[in-house]
Amino acid sequence: MPKARLSANQPGLREVLTVRSRAKVNVFLEVLGKRTDGYHELDTVMLRTELHDVLQLEFPEDVRSDEVRLTVIGDRRLTSAIPCDESNLIIKAARALRAATGIHQPVSITLQKRIPAQAGLAGGSSNAAAALCALNRLWKTNLPQRSLHEIAAGLGSDINFFVEDCRAARCTGRGETVKPIALCGSPVVIVMRPQSGNSTPRVFSELASLPSSELRSSDEILAALKSGSLSQIRRAAFNRLTNAAVRLNPEMGEMLQAVQRRTGLPVLMSGSGSTCFVVVENVRRGRRLLSVLRNIDCSFLCLTRIH
Ligand code: C5P
Repeated sequence: MPKARLSANQPGLREVLTVRSRAKVNVFLEVLGKRTDGYHELDTVMLRTELHDVLQLEFPEDVRSDEVRLTVIGDRRLTSAIPCDESNLIIKAARALRAATGIHQPVSITLQKRIPAQAGLAGGSSNAAAALCALNRLWKTNLPQRSLHEIAAGLGSDINFFVEDCRAARCTGRGETVKPIALCGSPVVIVMRPQSGNSTPRVFSELASLPSSELRSSDEILAALKSGSLSQIRRAAFNRLTNAAVRLNPEMGEMLQAVQRRTGLPVLMSGSGSTCFVVVENVRRGRRLLSVLRNIDCSFLCLTRIH
């Protein structure tokens, strides 16, 4: 479960939990087929990044209320698309934990947003996992990780990766079956999101099905991550959703090509996009490449470590 910082609980002070909610990138994503429940069967490899939101959770002033309250703060360009109502996955996670345990404690949550939305970085899913694990402490419900995984799977497909709290994992099923994997070193990625985001359901529905003989295996990327060989990682990195996403978001396609031209490196889309990223050796080389990309047309650009 993600680490939490519990601030001093002296008399007169309310208990406050502060947790990080990290983003992910998919260094490999193959779609194995469409399922009868409408989801797609995936084989994907996710890496957790240092890029993170911060959640602060505390009992509200009026502890008699049984409210779950959410406030979002941060740069307006990042926060304007984030709902604070029941449609937010943080509120859904809190309600699901209550339903599973029968408790009715209140909570006031402040989300400091740094991860862009509609980006394929799983910001919302990560927030849900962070809230679920932190509330399990704050409310002293003490559910085991297995039960948190069950709740997470009921809320979405990417949440289990963050509940697992590992640097890297192979995720299968619709994404909710998480197996941590070996990762040598701490690769660095440059992530950039064009002005427009992508809708995950639309990208999946744009995808044409393929004969199984054309599907790629994750074996090569798993071996590359284990060995830490950057050239092997770049060779094996792949995302089946890219062409479908480029058809829906040509601006993202243009950004992808421009970054490829300027860096001379393969550029990968994360999840269903619209964030794309390149993997680099270290922070120094990353900073040099960042300067080449400074004036590229995008809404978000950052260098972050796999962590
Ligand atoms: O599970 P989550 O809410 O993140 O999924 C959002 C949407 O993305 C789903 O409603 C579905 O349309 C699509 N999806 C899919 N197959 C997956 C994961 C997501 O078709 N494995």
